[in-house]
Amino acid sequence: MLKGKKILLGITGSIAAYKAILLVRLFTKAGAEVRVIMTPSATNFVSPLVLSTLTGNKVLIDLFNEDTWANHVMLGRWADLMLIAPLSCNTMAKMAAGQCDNLLLAVYLSATCPVVVSPAMDEDMWHHPATKNNIQMLQSFGNSIINVEHGELASGLVGEGRMAEPESIVNYVTAHFFRDKVLRDKKVLVTAGPTYEAIDPVRFIGNHSSGKMGIALAEAFYLKGADVMLVTGPVYVKPVFDGIKIHQVTSAAEMYKACLSAFPTADIAVMSAAVADYQPLNVAGEKIKKKDEEMVIQLAKTRDILKSLGEIKQANQLLVGFALETQNEREYALEKMKAKNADMIVLNSLKDSNAGFGYDTNKVTVFDKEGNEYPLGLASKKVIAAEIVNIIISKVNVKETYI
Ligand code: CTP
Repeated sequence: MLKGKKILLGITGSIAAYKAILLVRLFTKAGAEVRVIMTPSATNFVSPLVLSTLTGNKVLIDLFNEDTWANHVMLGRWADLMLIAPLSCNTMAKMAAGQCDNLLLAVYLSATCPVVVSPAMDEDMWHHPATKNNIQMLQSFGNSIINVEHGELASGLVGEGRMAEPESIVNYVTAHFFRDKVLRDKKVLVTAGPTYEAIDPVRFIGNHSSGKMGIALAEAFYLKGADVMLVTGPVYVKPVFDGIKIHQVTSAAEMYKACLSAFPTADIAVMSAAVADYQPLNVAGEKIKKKDEEMVIQLAKTRDILKSLGEIKQANQLLVGFALETQNEREYALEKMKAKNADMIVLNSLKDSNAGFGYDTNKVTVFDKEGNEYPLGLASKKVIAAEIVNIIISKVNVKETYI
């Protein structure tokens, strides 16, 4: 997404300027080209030498240096995006007023590319009416604002005003300016995580699914431009992109209801949740007290969501299931794909070390109903998700040409 993108990073005088080093690393690691402009006061907080070394480009500071004076208009035209992070209160006010007493402001005022800012200041400054006015002014000029975060501030106080973390800034920039468009007209439904089946008001039957694979899939679809709805059971992670719609559920029955209602308008559905196969037949209204040495809980089958979607699937919908197996993996996975009328199935073998529940990595094989097999080697769930989404995209496109 960021590969080959040209980012003009403006750094102003704020203690958060030290985070610009990590920001530059994240952008360059993702394949973006970064050029840095600093206000003179920013050089008190972070070394231009470090930034020029990391970007491979000279850091620009002085407006009246011969070549920068001549080039300030060109810089804003060179960039795909101008990001000012951190944005100090002072530079914010100057931007709002249209002042131009340094190179960064000159480039900002002449930039033809989108501009996004990530403010950083103490809480009282952040809440000052002048700051609020300036923020509104910047927004009215068409600039995007990355919200400040709550946390420890340079003053030692705790409150609002911290610059967003570099990872969050990169995610914001990627999601708002550099999403792919290939799935722009597609609605995607993804399920993730475990389901919890209540035994009584305090106990449940659950499983170890972390939801990481499903969330990585939702993010990968989103980055390809899709309109994504994530139906998730109880999980401790959430997608990094705000644009992903989240429907949180607890039980298999709730997940069933959410999926059945979302599926008719979905183009693609990927069921990666580890849905409970059984639920307690009766849920006790009060906490069950400890009595006998042994206890039996009667269970009833839950409804199979993937199978139900397979029964109502239309020709223009692509349905993908997951299969978690410990033996006869291939055979069971193919059987599941057929029995549930899925178009593809992703086999997750628990025999592979570092793959499956709880890990950040995974190793899967994707099968499609045409008999193709795509083994994907051990990689991060993010990479695996991107590969699965690419396989799905190739199917969706093939389908479209036939319709
Ligand atoms: N699944 C579902 N609803 C259920 C159970 C499973 O939608 N009540 C979906 C899962 O999300 C997954 C696929 O079915 O996409 C396969 O899940 P898995 O647990 O591997 O298979 P089961 O059909 O439950 O069979 P078994 O547990 O016997 O292997």
